[in-house]
Amino acid sequence: MFLSEIHSSISSGFPIKLGMTNFLIKCKFNFMNSEKVIEVVGLTKKYKKLIAVNNLNLNVYKGDVFGFLGPNGAGKSTTIRMLLTLIKPTSGNIKIFGKELNKNRKEILSRIGAIVEKPDFYLYLSAKKNLEILSKISGKEIPKSKIMEMLKLVGLDKRANSKVKTFSHGMKQRLGIAQTLLHDPDLIILDEPTTGLDPQGMKEIRDLIIYLSKEKGKTIFLSSHILREIELIATRMIIINKGTTIIEGTVEELLNSDSQKVRIEVDDINKTLEIIKNTEWENHFKSIEKNDLIFEIDKTKIPQLAKFLINNNIEVSAVVPIRSLEDYFLRITEESVK
Ligand SMILES: Nc1ncnc2c1ncn2[C@@H]1O[C@H](COP(=O)(O)OP(=O)(O)O)[C@@H](O)[C@H]1O
Ligand SMILES: [Mg+2]
Repeated sequence: MFLSEIHSSISSGFPIKLGMTNFLIKCKFNFMNSEKVIEVVGLTKKYKKLIAVNNLNLNVYKGDVFGFLGPNGAGKSTTIRMLLTLIKPTSGNIKIFGKELNKNRKEILSRIGAIVEKPDFYLYLSAKKNLEILSKISGKEIPKSKIMEMLKLVGLDKRANSKVKTFSHGMKQRLGIAQTLLHDPDLIILDEPTTGLDPQGMKEIRDLIIYLSKEKGKTIFLSSHILREIELIATRMIIINKGTTIIEGTVEELLNSDSQKVRIEVDDINKTLEIIKNTEWENHFKSIEKNDLIFEIDKTKIPQLAKFLINNNIEVSAVVPIRSLEDYFLRITEESVK
């Protein structure tokens, strides 16, 4: 196995504040010291009546493994194609490495390595020969030693002289990543790199991405339609659906929260607030929405809270847990395949 020494857990150091209304979470970040690698503002792509990407904003910071998550058809590939200037935005602005993409296209693209579609190789030539040809096509001077170095990095050095047609899908994906690394890019953009791979192949790609981030200091922009994939390797993430942002934040804060929000409908809000005053429940009270009280509380404590209110003669007509991000993502994913 290659890269076996890599730790597969990464945590993010960015503080974040969450405020949740109808699953729309607005996050405030403290990124004073971080350099923006990608800055997208109001990005929109229309295909006739269809709005594939709708006023999208996102920021990727240096050193991020940025998870770009969304169900099929959410607009991920369309966004990535605009980042790579393969298609033109209908409106909006993209800055990469602090510069306007459309005015510094060549310079910016020379610092990016990307796999958008499934990488294409000459199946009857060896892995090494493929990389030699592809580096020649790219018009850049890439020493032969660099090719072997990259094959080693992705765990294919022992198969360097094997024909690509003998490779598994996962090996071809890794060869694709080796190709994107030949010119030593600062930013690597991968569109669903683990799609169609078996669990072992997925793990190898994940380990490779973590290695490139942690050991090689690359910034990585990674799209997926699988929450778990992003959760395992990303430091920050955004979820998009129907071309627009649903949530953005650090993976740690968005997914690893033990507490749960719950909506409680009572007959008398003022009386309820009076009753919880100076009790442990007061600390869990978050807000009033319409005629409901919102509490943030450990799941296991929800029955106790309901009982406390009823015992104090509050009429409780509904207790509705607010769905977690995971449930929510599953729901939009199910909707997207309908
Ligand atoms: N060239 C195109 N012409 C028309 N519609 C397109 C084109 N490319 C993508 N779309 C539509 O834009 C939406 C977003 O697609 P895409 O960016 O491929 O989503 P994702 O990569 O998240 O699965 C989809 O509804 C898709 O059908
Ligand atoms: Mg796609």
